[in-house]
Amino acid sequence: MKFKDKFSKINSSLAFLSLISLVISVFSGIIVSYHYFWQYPLLSIISMEAKVPFGKFFRNLHYWSSQCTLIFTSLHLFDSIYKKTFFYKSFWNWDFLIFSWVATLFATFTGYVLRADETGELAGAIAENLLKSIPLIGTFFNTLFFSITEVGLYRVFLSHFFISFILLLGLFIFHFSWKKIAKIENVLWTLPSLIFSFLVYRPLNPYQGFQAKGPWFFLGAQELLKFLSPLYVFFFLIIPIVILLVFPFIPSKFFWLNLMLYLWIIFYFFLTLNLLFNLF
Ligand code: HEM
Repeated sequence: MKFKDKFSKINSSLAFLSLISLVISVFSGIIVSYHYFWQYPLLSIISMEAKVPFGKFFRNLHYWSSQCTLIFTSLHLFDSIYKKTFFYKSFWNWDFLIFSWVATLFATFTGYVLRADETGELAGAIAENLLKSIPLIGTFFNTLFFSITEVGLYRVFLSHFFISFILLLGLFIFHFSWKKIAKIENVLWTLPSLIFSFLVYRPLNPYQGFQAKGPWFFLGAQELLKFLSPLYVFFFLIIPIVILLVFPFIPSKFFWLNLMLYLWIIFYFFLTLNLLFNLF
């Protein structure tokens, strides 16, 4: 029996759902970008929703397809960990999955910053502070990706746009062929993005009252900043990425690494709940 046969196959529905949601996200992103101006971001989004035919729908579609991409890519990653695909796939293949997940997080995060409502402004300010706190390389990466204080949302817009294209190109060059998705039965995988876009409208958050909140997946980090300096929070945030990257190298420690990963997730979830409901 081949080594590969000992493991169950990955869930292809999750893989399709994440890829097709990403394709919808990129297409709807291209449409909204025609009406988006980084010089007056919030105003341009409000005017897109009010004046452009189907503007509200396409913004909503971009929002929900992006959420679906992030959620299904995360589930695809968990599925791969559970089935230990890194033991039989090449190291490059595993790395590519981690890169795609981090790139999706980055695209979703910068998307929130582009909104420039209270959620976006807060997320941008935190990201700048976290990056600037990293010695030697932090300022360089902040200048490359954000620089909001200096040039407004210009670089955030470029990063958002480029990372999305790199991600999509990379997936089609190294991971998936167009032929595989260009089949009529794959229309099914567009349903989560479409159903949410038609049924649930996501408004902007110009003012949220007493406590402003960043993107939902960033709330744990926002809460931790109450207790730790930005540099420690940055190190805390990269722990899961380091664990994921070392998985293939230490098969004998799989149990402990997995345990650390799940404890990290539980702790992060707890921080998120604490910010939302002030438990302690
Ligand atoms: C070439 C591809 C893309 C372009 C041109 C693009 C463009 C834009 C623009 C102009 C905005 C601001 C307007 C708005 O808020 O609706 C935006 C927001 C956003 N983008 Fe993208 N985007 C692209 C791909 C992606 C991808 C791949 C993701 C994540 C998987 C993503 C996630 C988001 C999110 C979460 C928002 C905030 C949506 C909202 O609440 O309004 N984008 N994008």
